[in-house]
Amino acid sequence: MRLILCENYDELSEQAAKLVASQIILKPDSVIGLATGQTPMGMYKNLVKMYERGEVDFSNITTFNLDEYYPIKRGNDQSYYYYMNENLFSKINININKTHIPDGETKNPYKECDKYEEEIKKNGGIDLQILGIGQNGHIGFNEPDVSLYTETHLTDLTRNTIEANSRFFNNEDEVPKQALTMGIATILKSKKIILLASGANKSRVVSELLNGDINTSIPATMLKVHPDVVLICDKDAYSGIRLGVDIGGTSVKFAVVEDGKLIYKSSIGSNKGSCDTFIKEIAEECIRIKAKYPYKTIGVGTPGRITDGAVTASNLPFKNTHLAKELKKYIDMSINVDNDANCAALGEFEFGIGKDMDNIIMVTLGTGVGGGIIIDGRICHGRYSMGEIGHIIVQSKGGLPCACGQTGCWEQYASVTALIREATQACIEDKDSVLYELYSKNNNKLDGKLIFDALEQNCPVAKKVFDEYIEWLVIGLKNLINIFGPDAIILAGGITKRSNILIDAVRKSLDTPVKIEISKLQNDAGALGAAML
Ligand code: GLP
Repeated sequence: MRLILCENYDELSEQAAKLVASQIILKPDSVIGLATGQTPMGMYKNLVKMYERGEVDFSNITTFNLDEYYPIKRGNDQSYYYYMNENLFSKINININKTHIPDGETKNPYKECDKYEEEIKKNGGIDLQILGIGQNGHIGFNEPDVSLYTETHLTDLTRNTIEANSRFFNNEDEVPKQALTMGIATILKSKKIILLASGANKSRVVSELLNGDINTSIPATMLKVHPDVVLICDKDAYSGIRLGVDIGGTSVKFAVVEDGKLIYKSSIGSNKGSCDTFIKEIAEECIRIKAKYPYKTIGVGTPGRITDGAVTASNLPFKNTHLAKELKKYIDMSINVDNDANCAALGEFEFGIGKDMDNIIMVTLGTGVGGGIIIDGRICHGRYSMGEIGHIIVQSKGGLPCACGQTGCWEQYASVTALIREATQACIEDKDSVLYELYSKNNNKLDGKLIFDALEQNCPVAKKVFDEYIEWLVIGLKNLINIFGPDAIILAGGITKRSNILIDAVRKSLDTPVKIEISKLQNDAGALGAAML
């Protein structure tokens, strides 16, 4: 689904009219599916203006309206028959014989529906369907239900729709209780679809549509299976405020993002006690932030494995924990959960080095080697554990054992843990070195920082270990480049922050047109990416 985000309703109306006009200019005998309601009125006004300026010729088009109340007289000023005449048909050079609206006066609604569906087929199907969206997520009059009837049919209106549409009638009792509507399959058979959403009262369903799963309780989510849908939305309907939560072993970071900008961040310590209290603490911080920043969606990045929404993480009290469901007990809104490394990659893609790129790979060097792959702007998940780049095998025979059960995994050679292991071994074997001096002064312990200190003091022992480390790092990076051909590989993690030693060495031995960069966002990437899930 492509999103055109407009500043306001006027811009939305203009954009929509332009798309409809282009369709008619390119194919003058187009079959257009029309919608009613308040939202498309501005679009119709713009189309009338374009007609008056001689920019569009409507004489050869055929139209099919989405729906009509049932029963309703054509003369009733709330019938969609009346609406179309008032807002469009009487003002342009359309051939009225080629316009179709389900007959709200029919004695046999079932036959009328079959006839209507047949007529659409006879005309070769709909080239471009315009849709509005009800506050409950209905399209046409396809109301939320456990299962949706797919072709043109007679339907009962829900309480919610009767209430919402009573604004056009004298009172609620006057609103017809039924309607004739194209079904979801009728709509999905259209070659192209434009969906219009305007106003804050649509923001909940728009958010569900953009962030939620396909489900019959929000019928518009069915549009996600269509290959050519453009959602034109104004800022009121599209809440740009999102919350990202990055759960880590020591802290949980929160980031509020509005229209692509970080506007607030906070963090709390990670509770290693019970799962319930940890989730409650996270939820409480979400609620506290919401009072100030009324976000509409939450994205959560978490370490560990996520299977069907259930998270199991070794450093945290999550064991088959359905994080989204648990958080929803405290805060009921659209919540998406993904792996933390994927979120960091998405953060860097949306806000950092990857901002103007299509494909990036983020490689995080730390205790292990983690990463996220973004292809064409989307996180690649695959079915099982795609993106677990730390576990690509770089040493086939005699490789070091890995906690994942394999041997020779990349993270056994390219993680900071591996660098420290090798450096410790080397300095113990050569006590006459700067590296050993730093090691012994630090209670016989090395860390990434000390290794870099030794490198800066030109210690040959540290240099040898580091060169070998770079060789292993580069082997994995080469594999990633060969498989994915990304625009950039972005390195993150504590050791990438230290001077240019690492990045210079990698660039020198990689010799590739692919950009090798250091993460711009580092610790903020995860929460920012989570916000954009
Ligand atoms: C009606 C129509 C829908 C329309 C919806 C939203 O129920 N059957 O096709 O999308 O209203 O209308 P509005 O744009 O006035 O919010």
